[in-house]
Amino acid sequence: MKIVPQIIQVPKILDARGNLSFFEHPKQLPFEIARTYWVYDVPGGETRGSHAFREQQEFIVALSGSFDVVLHDGEEEQKFQLNRSYYGLFVPKMYWRRMENFSTNSLALIVSDKLYDAGDYIRDFEEFKALRNG
Ligand code: TYD
Repeated sequence: MKIVPQIIQVPKILDARGNLSFFEHPKQLPFEIARTYWVYDVPGGETRGSHAFREQQEFIVALSGSFDVVLHDGEEEQKFQLNRSYYGLFVPKMYWRRMENFSTNSLALIVSDKLYDAGDYIRDFEEFKALRNG
């Protein structure tokens, strides 16, 4: 798999009793999960994220509702709309990302290959661009 942002489809087990989806490494996910977190109760119009990670990779799924993930590679921006629970967005390290346009009651599930490390964040866009393009 090329290390670029991409939508990954996950299995969808259709069932009259209710559908079920899942992902696991290495079949669907290109990394082993070290941490899981979720973002919820986002007020209308709010933006989350707006940073990059030096090392951390992520996979983001809209478990409920919808939102946009906007990724910047230092040169250009790409927007992904997530609105189904049977696919997600793989975000490699060193992409500036923000999450916006959250629908009411949306739920963003994020799995990462690293434990939480404040030092892994790049929170200054100019610093990010310099590191990315330098
Ligand atoms: P942050 O990643 O900055 O949120 P966002 O990018 O969505 O705006 O995290 C917000 C706060 O939560 C920050 O103080 C760190 C804390 N946090 C943890 O303690 N552990 C975690 O795994 C995450 C993702 C955040």
